[in-house]
Amino acid sequence: MLKNDLLEQWDRESFFHPSTHLANHARGDSPTRVIKTAKGCHITDRDGNRSLDAFAGLYCVNVGYGRSEIAEAIAEQAHELAYYHAYVGHGTEASITLSKMILDRAPKGMSKVYFGQSGSDANETNVKLIWYYNNILGRPEKKKIISRWRGYHGSGLMTGSLTGLDLFHQKFDLPLAQVVHTDAPYYYRRTDEDMTPEQFTDHLVAQLEALIEREGADTIAAFIGEPVLGTGGIVPPPPGYWPAIQKVLDRHDILLVADEVVTGFGRLGSMFGSDHYGMRPDLITIAKGLTSAYAPLSGSIVGDRMWKVLEQGTDENGPIGHGWTYSAHPIGAAAGVANLLLIDDLNLIDNAREVGAYLNRQMQGALADHAHVGEVRGEGMLCAVEMVENRQGRQFFDPSRKIGAAISAEMAKRGVIARAMPQGDIIGYAPPFCLTRDEADTIVGATVDAINVVLGA
Ligand SMILES: Cc1ncc(COP(=O)(O)O)c(C=O)c1O
Repeated sequence: MLKNDLLEQWDRESFFHPSTHLANHARGDSPTRVIKTAKGCHITDRDGNRSLDAFAGLYCVNVGYGRSEIAEAIAEQAHELAYYHAYVGHGTEASITLSKMILDRAPKGMSKVYFGQSGSDANETNVKLIWYYNNILGRPEKKKIISRWRGYHGSGLMTGSLTGLDLFHQKFDLPLAQVVHTDAPYYYRRTDEDMTPEQFTDHLVAQLEALIEREGADTIAAFIGEPVLGTGGIVPPPPGYWPAIQKVLDRHDILLVADEVVTGFGRLGSMFGSDHYGMRPDLITIAKGLTSAYAPLSGSIVGDRMWKVLEQGTDENGPIGHGWTYSAHPIGAAAGVANLLLIDDLNLIDNAREVGAYLNRQMQGALADHAHVGEVRGEGMLCAVEMVENRQGRQFFDPSRKIGAAISAEMAKRGVIARAMPQGDIIGYAPPFCLTRDEADTIVGATVDAINVVLGA
């Protein structure tokens, strides 16, 4: 195909990009990168520049790019039946099969899957189901949702409120009043440096208890959290965190939503983060890894105790007043079935665990002693490097220096994409599960070089 010389101009003139500095982009101060093809862990732009994508898009292309098994499943589905809705008991072979496959893989005690299109809309669904549940149980006051600062749960009105990152609230009049935030289990950023990880868990539990006491347990419906904090910094929880939180929630009859949009289907080296950390959720949010982003599809997996009440609600009130046109879209469902089969066939979760551990080890070995690296952390095929001005006293850089963005830009020049996380100078890695050890070495090498260029060796 001939190269369209106007594409960049059209882009600046017509395309409203998400999470982008709009004015810089419209002025042409930030470049347009037109991605054309991709294979395995690499993407190639239309100028022929190839990059190792160490963030799997937005931690979603878990099986890697260019999988013909999924492309063919999508094509077949589009030819046979591109669309039919899922209202009033309709389904397709793909959507029904996929629900069964998800439940076969889900933690114990889960009952049904509701399908949406994005992680954000799945969390919107979760909040509505939680409110419906408490109304059916005759507890109209029990509605607030506890979320964690630095959590990421989407960017809708309710889900943007659940998200605990400043950028997603500022100037949008968020968070909404039904959301209350508590601290994230972010050990490196603890206020009292003398605390052990175990003491830090105790501290977070006490803080949660105090919050529930202050607000009144009869006003709090649910707690939402990612098994490993994702966009807020890629932070695995301290030991014992989830079982201890679970105990508090059980005591106060508060539901648990495990947001597994990033961790679901293998990213931690196990099928679900809930099982990995001993969570017993009432709802699980899934998206990204469900189709490896070959088509948009998300889901809310509903646990037994909620499901019973939802059934009771429809006996009392008629059909549930909640649905999207594209719920269980056949093309997304076909992609999901092919994706989950591929993950099994190629043992990709084992690879995520093994090569993810290697990546974390090598990163640790290469950077643990660097004067400006505060922490290297990770779990499964997730890794993060947190930069500091001064390791003593954990003195962070002035955000206006944009150190994280500068490092990720230097890495991009070396052909490796890592993500400068939005709050703090944190470089994030979430490669496809098919990453090889050689590719992991390339990621580590590019990180070390970029840090040395930006901050000195
Ligand atoms: C944990 C988590 N939940 C929800 C979302 C929102 O998903 P989406 O961007 O598909 O709306 C994300 C997106 O990154 C996420 O990481």
